[in-house]
Amino acid sequence: MAVTPASAQDVADGLRAAGYLPGTSTALVSYLAATLGKPVLVEGPAGVGKTELAKALARYLDRRLVRLQCYEGLDEAKALYEWNYRKQLLRIQTEERGTGWDDVQEDIFSESFLLERPLMTAIASPEPVVLLIDEIDKTDQEFEAMLLELLSDFQISIPELGRIDARTQPVVVLTSNNSRELTEALKRRCLYLWLDYPAAEQELAIVKLHAPELSETVAAKLVEVVNQVRALDLKKPPSIAESIDWARALLLLGADDIDADTFRETMSVIVKHRTDLDTVAERVGVKLGHGVAGQPAA
Ligand SMILES: Nc1ncnc2c1ncn2[C@@H]1O[C@H](COP(=O)(O)OP(=O)(O)OP(=O)(O)O)[C@@H](O)[C@H]1O
Ligand SMILES: [Mg+2]
Repeated sequence: MAVTPASAQDVADGLRAAGYLPGTSTALVSYLAATLGKPVLVEGPAGVGKTELAKALARYLDRRLVRLQCYEGLDEAKALYEWNYRKQLLRIQTEERGTGWDDVQEDIFSESFLLERPLMTAIASPEPVVLLIDEIDKTDQEFEAMLLELLSDFQISIPELGRIDARTQPVVVLTSNNSRELTEALKRRCLYLWLDYPAAEQELAIVKLHAPELSETVAAKLVEVVNQVRALDLKKPPSIAESIDWARALLLLGADDIDADTFRETMSVIVKHRTDLDTVAERVGVKLGHGVAGQPAA
């Protein structure tokens, strides 16, 4: 049974039950998106839960997730629909001789000769879905323009068939890593959600959710250290995804504390650039040595 949220609090509780801990604005914007029928554009650094939000919304709203992964050069044929040329050809070949071209043409340009791609699947679905358009910033502006018709009117124009209106309205989540500025026209049609690295207690809760067996002390220390690392001027600061990976790695290694040695051995789970590793080893590793053992690191 599809779920209809009655308030932002409802959405917050629902997302939590679906394994996603939302911040206040995440719950509010998701609630508005689900009730106003507006798409949400989620932006923010890598690994802060943009994609997962769409997945969690689908679980909470009890809707199917239809995902369009964007990449450079993505076109309508892969995103929207394509004519099934092979089937059309077969249809023409099996046609009895003597049938007029008009009859065949009418037939081969009908819906049964279409190959649905994710955007079309999403609006043609008899049950409402959650449509995730992931990493929209990887496509070009022409693709964005094509999306506009879909996002504002929930319809698709097919030259040979005419207009196809949405059977059901999807909840649409677009994500972007900000690798290029999106057009104003697109932004105007969307609600906007900026996801950033979470506050320490929020991150602690997320880490505990994903690695429940990790001890409270190690989890708290992990979040503290990750925040210290983020405060440095790094090429790529660690994301929530990396905090979770680190928690799992520490658990696997049976670490009962994060001292200088443990940190040195495992820091490549959260820091992944050569230059960043040096900076972090110097600035955070040394600090841990002092703090934990009361003596300078070797
Ligand atoms: N609020 C949250 N509650 C629970 N888990 C979260 C939350 N935020 C992030 N995560 C977890 O962090 C990991 C990374 O999330 P996700 O893949 O959604 O990041 P992203 O922002 O889409 O990253 P990218 O830009 O690299 O695609 C996932 O395992 C996800 O479950
Ligand atoms: Mg993602």
